[in-house]
Amino acid sequence: MLFSRILRLRVLALVLLIVALSAIYYAIFLVYGSNSDTGASVVDKVVVDLPYDATKGNRRIGVYVDVYYESLCPDSRSFFMNELLPTVHKLGDVLFVNLVPYGRAETIIKGEDIEFICQHGPKECLGNKFHACIIQNTKSNNQLSVNVTGCLFEDYFQPQAERCCKKFGVPWEDVKSCVYGSEGTQLLKVHGDLTNRLLPIDFIPTVALNQVTGSKNYQAAILKNLANEVCRILERSSINLSACQT
Ligand SMILES: *[C@@H]1O[C@H](CO)[C@@H](O)[C@H](O)[C@H]1NC(C)=O
Ligand SMILES: *[C@@H]1O[C@H](CO)[C@@H](O)[C@H](O)[C@H]1NC(C)=O
Repeated sequence: MLFSRILRLRVLALVLLIVALSAIYYAIFLVYGSNSDTGASVVDKVVVDLPYDATKGNRRIGVYVDVYYESLCPDSRSFFMNELLPTVHKLGDVLFVNLVPYGRAETIIKGEDIEFICQHGPKECLGNKFHACIIQNTKSNNQLSVNVTGCLFEDYFQPQAERCCKKFGVPWEDVKSCVYGSEGTQLLKVHGDLTNRLLPIDFIPTVALNQVTGSKNYQAAILKNLANEVCRILERSSINLSACQT
């Protein structure tokens, strides 16, 4: 009798504890959720130092654009064609674009071997390697990386890769041996490690501005009008670009 009463009290205490903890968790979630929902905290981010630009030989400040995408994804393609390419052509001097082709893939390490499973099948893994190797071979010229990978997306990747490299003067033989050799595999693994830091990912592509991915609303705003979100960050730092006025 006494024993079961103690037991009942304990169960009651445990239930109360769980209720209290859930309430605290929910309260924290609400505060955090309402902050990030508007994306308002995100635009507080100001411009940052960009990597040295070898093609211009000068120090730059501006906005980092990290793009997490995959080669056969229609949403990635439309982001490149409709947002990234035009924005880089318009605001390239104040951007540093960091392309991360991997998306919803998986890296499988079997002893010495590294294999990948990609969302749109083996062709996408190969496509991601084309992207990775082109990025590697255009490292000193950020705008060139975006131009060539953007060209791949014109008709997705395979038949395009050679044409796109030659069009922009990227050494095709180097890209090809990277893609089909161990370098492509190593590069893709690194892109996978970078992507996996963001898990769980809601959507591909995911874009970070100055390393902030923000809320779903912020992501939607970036995917809809990248230039506008970049200009908002520049304006917060009192950088008045004529390209942002149009
Ligand atoms: C990228 O493409 C744009 C538009 O075609 C061109 O104006 C620009 O010079 C290119 N830049 C590089 C580095 O290829
Ligand atoms: C920014 O530049 C535009 C024209 O390019 C000008 O009309 C505007 O007054 C400028 N704003 C500031 C804060 O300098």
